[in-house]
Amino acid sequence: MKWPSIFGRLTKQLGIDLGTANTRVFVKGRGVVINEPSVVAINRRNNQVMAVGEDALSMVGKTPAHIQVTRPLQRGIIADFEVTEKMLRYFFEKVHEDKAFAIPRPSVVICVPLDVTEVERKAVGDAATAAGAREVLVVEEPIAAAIGAGLAIGEPFGNMIINLGAGSTEIAVISLNGVVTSKSIPIAGDELNKNIIQYARDVFNILLGERVAEQIKIAIGSAVELPEPMEAMMRGRDLLSGLPREITVNDAQIREALGRSIKAIMDQTKAILEITPPELVADIQQRGIVLTGGGALLRGLDQALSRGTGLPVRVADDCLNCVVRGTAALIDNRALLAEVAIPATDLVKSI
Ligand SMILES: Nc1ncnc2c1ncn2[C@@H]1O[C@H](COP(=O)(O)OP(=O)(O)OP(=O)(O)O)[C@@H](O)[C@H]1O
Ligand SMILES: [Mg+2]
Repeated sequence: MKWPSIFGRLTKQLGIDLGTANTRVFVKGRGVVINEPSVVAINRRNNQVMAVGEDALSMVGKTPAHIQVTRPLQRGIIADFEVTEKMLRYFFEKVHEDKAFAIPRPSVVICVPLDVTEVERKAVGDAATAAGAREVLVVEEPIAAAIGAGLAIGEPFGNMIINLGAGSTEIAVISLNGVVTSKSIPIAGDELNKNIIQYARDVFNILLGERVAEQIKIAIGSAVELPEPMEAMMRGRDLLSGLPREITVNDAQIREALGRSIKAIMDQTKAILEITPPELVADIQQRGIVLTGGGALLRGLDQALSRGTGLPVRVADDCLNCVVRGTAALIDNRALLAEVAIPATDLVKSI
């Protein structure tokens, strides 16, 4: 095994969850030190980075022509290599601001979604290397999520994890530290926001911004009927008059808007269960399905999935940080890291 040996004692070790919406960085000995939106603002006149993370997110939809605010990842995959590299470099520099930890070239454990191509996987490794990493180990996101959620995935026992991010939902059954059956679908937090935008347009003739849609989703979004009705203000532009308009929406309306996506996640979960070996399904029945990622926070999603599958479902503790906590656990468990890390390039194929 050559991977564990790269973690020399003097090297700074980082665990990175490079997400479509959020990037989180764990530093060994310090914990999760970066938790920021994966957003970069670039000044196109000189190609310089103006802001990264929270500061860049606050500029979305409010920029003059020469400032471009982008999310360099789409569906968990690098869509803009150069900007991803700049973003990672910025975060690495931020980590190193503290002089006591000023070790310039870190070793990193970084996650990629399931079903990425070799080229996409290599791009993640290359971006981290170009941003200053000395060595990069790549791990599948649901494996890291399961470890971060505290599941004992090394046993011959079926664990089902659904990681609901912004760009993709990954459904995986894991046993003996490996993915047995899985599916990655592009229906996750971003798609739910789009559903709300579409609903506002179709039903109220209002054009909403993405951030407003997300705020409404977080404020009153749900997957099952709620014990108490909830309401939120919907502010956008009236498509007929072209002027600002504000209306009140309730949880039932937003539930209707999200319905199709929730059903798609449900259907895919069932489809995975159908192709999972029966012994593992029996295990899942016993321990239940575990939800991770920000999308797991949608009200009643656990209940909806439980009703649909007939299995127990629970949201992992601190579900937003499961993936990065999984990378942190891997840094501390070199043997397990060696077992679950996937090569940045597929050597077998290139022979
Ligand atoms: N309370 C909430 N209710 C519903 N959705 C939420 C809530 N809080 C956060 N989210 C959603 O969770 C998503 C972000 O989750 P997360 O940080 O796990 O995604 P990511 O890792 O960046 O994306 P991906 O894994 O797809 O690359 C966003 O779409 C956000 O709207
Ligand atoms: Mg994620």
